[in-house]
Amino acid sequence: MHPGKKAAALAALELVDNDALLGVGTGSTVNVFIEMLAASNKQISGAVASSEATAERLTAHGIDVLDLNMTGQLALYIDGADESNPKLQLIKGGGGALTREKIIAAASRQFVCIVDHSKQVQVLGAFPLPIEVIPMARSYVAREIVKLGADPEFREAPRTDNGNIILDCYGFNITDPVNLEAQLNALAGVVTVGLFASRPADVLIVGQDDGKTELIENTSR
Ligand code: 5RP
Repeated sequence: MHPGKKAAALAALELVDNDALLGVGTGSTVNVFIEMLAASNKQISGAVASSEATAERLTAHGIDVLDLNMTGQLALYIDGADESNPKLQLIKGGGGALTREKIIAAASRQFVCIVDHSKQVQVLGAFPLPIEVIPMARSYVAREIVKLGADPEFREAPRTDNGNIILDCYGFNITDPVNLEAQLNALAGVVTVGLFASRPADVLIVGQDDGKTELIENTSR
């Protein structure tokens, strides 16, 4: 396991209160967080999971998985990311869970993103931007993405937890993330864009190889 991911996960655990209702994301960094949470003496009251995989993992550790429709606003959401820029705007969805991740981020008071230092970039877009698309709209959306200057690639993977497909879009140089997110969201057939720009992270915890962490707060929200 990347020592930076471990360090970031451990720092996030310190932010979790006993009895908290947590949003829990998806991916290898979050998996470390779940292991640490389960091994700790913290007793959370339950978690809302951003994927079936995370729900299974939480359940296996005896943590109650709750339906977001029953919880109201969550105090804290912890998740990883594929890239973060200095404004804490993110590319997410490498693990295919972007839609539920965006819903939980929207429904949470505080979104704490945990990453290793390799995820920090000045300009988003070197990591291919994942877009979840209704299957019948695949070709149409792909053509529209080409018009916007990027190169969409169909992800050869099982359908998402929502029964859709993912287009990984190469070559976007994302200098205006809020605008691009809105433009892509407006395409018919797009379910979710893996750009978290209009709702960025509130806190980014960056883990370094030596086990140290940096906690960056978003001052623009
Ligand atoms: C899943 C995600 C993950 O947060 C992202 O892919 C980072 O994963 P990892 O922690 O394995 O590097 O967005 O959809």
